[in-house]
Amino acid sequence: MTDDAIRFVLDGEVREVRGTDPNATLLDYLRESLHRTGTKEGCAEGDCGACTVVLAELDGDRPRFRAINACIKLLPTLDGKELYTVESLRSPDGELHPAQRAMVECHGSQCGFCTPGFVMSLFALHRSEAAPARERIHDVLAGNLCRCTGYRPIVAAAERMYDDPAGGNGYWLHRPYANGDGSPSAGEKALVERLESLRRTETLALTGPAVEGGTRRYFAPASLDDLAALVQEHPKAYLLAGGTDVGLWVTKAHQDLDSIIYLGAVPELQRVRVTDTHIEVGAGVTITDCQDVIGEHFADFGELFRRFASPPIRNAATLVGNIANGSPIGDSMPALISLGATLRLRAGAETRELALDDFYLAYRKTALAEGEFVESVRIPITPGDRHFRTYKISKRFDQDISAVCGAFSIELDGGVAHNVRICFGGMAAIPQRATGCEAALEGKEWSEATLPDALAALERDYTPIDDMRASAGYRRMVAHNLLRKFYLETSGFEGETRVIGGRN
Ligand SMILES: Cc1cc2nc3c(=O)[nH]c(=O)nc-3n(C[C@H](O)[C@H](O)[C@H](O)COP(=O)(O)OP(=O)(O)OC[C@H]3O[C@@H](n4cnc5c(N)ncnc54)[C@H](O)[C@@H]3O)c2cc1C
Ligand code: FES
Ligand code: FES
Repeated sequence: MTDDAIRFVLDGEVREVRGTDPNATLLDYLRESLHRTGTKEGCAEGDCGACTVVLAELDGDRPRFRAINACIKLLPTLDGKELYTVESLRSPDGELHPAQRAMVECHGSQCGFCTPGFVMSLFALHRSEAAPARERIHDVLAGNLCRCTGYRPIVAAAERMYDDPAGGNGYWLHRPYANGDGSPSAGEKALVERLESLRRTETLALTGPAVEGGTRRYFAPASLDDLAALVQEHPKAYLLAGGTDVGLWVTKAHQDLDSIIYLGAVPELQRVRVTDTHIEVGAGVTITDCQDVIGEHFADFGELFRRFASPPIRNAATLVGNIANGSPIGDSMPALISLGATLRLRAGAETRELALDDFYLAYRKTALAEGEFVESVRIPITPGDRHFRTYKISKRFDQDISAVCGAFSIELDGGVAHNVRICFGGMAAIPQRATGCEAALEGKEWSEATLPDALAALERDYTPIDDMRASAGYRRMVAHNLLRKFYLETSGFEGETRVIGGRN
């Protein structure tokens, strides 16, 4: 274990930061220590995108560029990465980056508060993709809010920036850091070398400032075994994955996280494995990195991920973090439970398998024992005659939390329903299966005649709450409508099936 400074790259140079407070955010560090005030603070909770910066990391032997929210990123997690802020885009002769120039030319900025965040999301896009379609641009900008300009000129700027990718003086020529034939450019090779020089093989251990009851500690183990040992040694430590829930405990709840164990530097947890029978997603895999592979097998699940938060949040948030956080309105769990997902849990050298159904015990209480953590989630790849749908109902299409999220899975054999699994989020204190409704459908003909009993059973399955997102009556009505929608979509109905309160 090394008591050490964190090391990252900024504008091509390796920086070391000693005495880092494990609870400090990247945004505060940028603005207060480096005086890089181009990165703004709007909401401090990952919603508005004013604080967007870009990180480069190694993905195999090539770099990848991702926009993230600096306001909820804890500073020590920057270790090993290359950081770009809006100030990084200035070329030596002062020439603007193509994204900035296009924003000017398309009148994409008024008061300017949101502008650096938009520019950084566009910079990440410019670095990663050539000629994205308009719908893709809309998706990429879903995490950046503008109160005055309106989005049309900004989307026009996103298209315009590709007209002159070299950026006038050619400074930004290599997009994405590759030569025209896709091979790594000299710039990319230099970046890869810098990132490799920062790679750790031992746990990073930081000691922060003294606080009431001790000192803040931060550990970033570099192997699964070291992680398992640390979690046993510090069973009360906060486990930190993408930090898109945990970050808010610091910025909004002003909680003191005295000991933190970071999962993001453990290579074994960064893997997605697809076999003939299942998809296994490691606890360090972000939503961005698993949404396509899951979407290939379950199209509706892929569409749900498209509506999960925003790209900068999905670039940080892990699927397992969503599961472990245990929010009753978390989006992935109804789908995972209806597909029969299981968790691999680890405590020290021991592992055990647990059905996700059995993981949630009560409101935000899970079956994890002290010193135990989730290593991965396994999603069975279902047979061809299985029908699966999941529907997220929220007030806004992008970047909104569900009022209700429903997931349905059945196998149809000669028009008869088998292996019915229905799960809802937002209807109870935990993501919960509709066991009565499932029983009313199991072994029955998949027909209009079966629905009344199933709907009556669904009514008895849940006692939803009234809260700011939706009334109990609304939730109940939505659940009914979703079952009807699922039935219509899987029984040959060819009309449109829209649900009040959603764009599904
Ligand atoms: C602006 C914004 C929008 C959001 N929108 C959505 C949305 O649309 N849908 C949705 O469902 N959620 C949403 N969220 C919530 C959040 O992004 C997700 O819950 C996310 O998946 C959490 O993952 P993480 O890796 O960031 O977890 P973290 O914040 O790092 O951790 C979350 C919790 O899980 C625990 N944990 C993490 N990994 C493990 C592990 N391997 N073993 C045991 N415990 C672990 C942590 O200790 C913590 O208690 C949003 C959050 C923000 C800030
Ligand atoms: S300040 Fe609003 S997302 Fe970070
Ligand atoms: S230009 Fe004012 S918030 Fe976007």
